[in-house]
Amino acid sequence: MQWGDEGKGKIVDLIAPQHDAVARYNGGANAGHSVVVKGERFSLHLIPSGILYPSKLAIIGNGVVLDPDKLQQEIDGLRSRGVDTSGLIVSSRAHVVMPYHKAEDAAREDSLKKERLSRDGEQSSVVSEIGTTRRGIGPAYAEKVQRSGAVRVCDLLDPETLREKISIAIATKRASLVDQPGVAATLDVAGVTDWALHAGENLRPMVQDTTYLLNNLVRAGKKVLFESANGTLLDVDHGTYPFVTGSSCSVGGIGPGTGVPVQRVGRVTGVMKAYSTRVGAGPMPTELTGDGEDGKIGDRIRTRGREFGTTTGRPRRVGWLDLVAVKYSAMINGTTGLALTMLDVLAGFDTVRVCTKYEFAGKQTDRFLPDSASLSAARPIYTDFPGFSEDVSAARSRGELPPRARAYIEFIEQTVGVPVDIVSVGPDRAQTITS
Ligand code: GDP
Ligand code: IMO
Ligand code: MG
Repeated sequence: MQWGDEGKGKIVDLIAPQHDAVARYNGGANAGHSVVVKGERFSLHLIPSGILYPSKLAIIGNGVVLDPDKLQQEIDGLRSRGVDTSGLIVSSRAHVVMPYHKAEDAAREDSLKKERLSRDGEQSSVVSEIGTTRRGIGPAYAEKVQRSGAVRVCDLLDPETLREKISIAIATKRASLVDQPGVAATLDVAGVTDWALHAGENLRPMVQDTTYLLNNLVRAGKKVLFESANGTLLDVDHGTYPFVTGSSCSVGGIGPGTGVPVQRVGRVTGVMKAYSTRVGAGPMPTELTGDGEDGKIGDRIRTRGREFGTTTGRPRRVGWLDLVAVKYSAMINGTTGLALTMLDVLAGFDTVRVCTKYEFAGKQTDRFLPDSASLSAARPIYTDFPGFSEDVSAARSRGELPPRARAYIEFIEQTVGVPVDIVSVGPDRAQTITS
């Protein structure tokens, strides 16, 4: 429901037992989904967060951009910790993140940064690096749309087609990448083809037509849980463009990203944290920053919430809860229930603030402004709540929460117009309130 890292991994793991399969439909290894079980932490990037339940189907859909090296590392890491990965299935039509996509991502970011620094150095909505994860996501999706040189998982199993596609892709990239340091190896047709064939052999036992698989499951009355990566405000169409990722992160991405018609989707659980965070550049009206009191509050939330990226380790930008944004996300996704995470992190503040409107162009509005330049100019208008000092991490029912925490939750429900079905009070699977 926000800019990513809301705790999707935790919530997917929590509700996975009520489903027969968990499917990822967008994004790639830019995602970092953490699951904590009895104190043991697992960081998932490409593998669906249902994998910790033995032999549960964990499906990587066609809408994902798949980095075979990252996937193999993840499989090896899970197996070495005794996790059964036999339920993992990869779409034959998922696009592959190639070595040159990562080189392109980095080169593009470096040149945007250079351009910004050569001007006045300030980030603007036009001249700024996006702050990508440099996992090759944007270039891989761009290649998909360009079509001719794009490599899909099925191509990794067909040496002739593969070599041809890689040759075409590399021929068109040489001009833009050749001067970049360290990229020569990513533009060597024979070397990249060998790498890709090897990746294909590793993937072969997991590759299936996941469109038929998923539709057959749905038709047979099985329950499929679709796990989004990134966040609605990072959605390429509905997010704070251009400071977004390359895919459709919202519920609308399920159709193209899996082949399951979106009208088959029933419940939509919107995962949101009790405040806001963002990684990378782009506007964030409620950001708590600077040398004053706001910056100190931001630091405190960052430390208490351990707000450092699961994928890149970058400190996350932190701010008060922005309900204008969450309400917008609920509209885009047709959210039927909210999962509110990190409530424990907000304990101990004298006042907790919630943004319910923006002031923009001299007027108050409760509309989100997905245009980055407009959102940068918006000033948050807050409703203040007295904070709660009690540690809530041991609460296991709504009734065990302090009244002020309950009031905070009720305010969210009323403002967004969607009930909070799940409250998370700590990272562990057990630290959850569902009643
Ligand atoms: P995702 O990308 O949406 O899956 O979220 P991440 O896993 O990247 O980031 C969420 C972080 O918060 C992880 O470190 C989780 O272990 C942790 N987390 C999840 N829920 C809670 C919670 O209710 N309280 C606290 N303190 N941490 C949580
Ligand atoms: P999960 O699934 C937070 C952000 C990046 C950057 C922008 C574009 O863990 O919530 P990209 O590499 O995708 O081209 O970067 O999007 N971003 C995320 N931020 N959580 C994520 O995933 C993100 N995936 C991408 O920081 O600002
Ligand atoms: Mg994350």
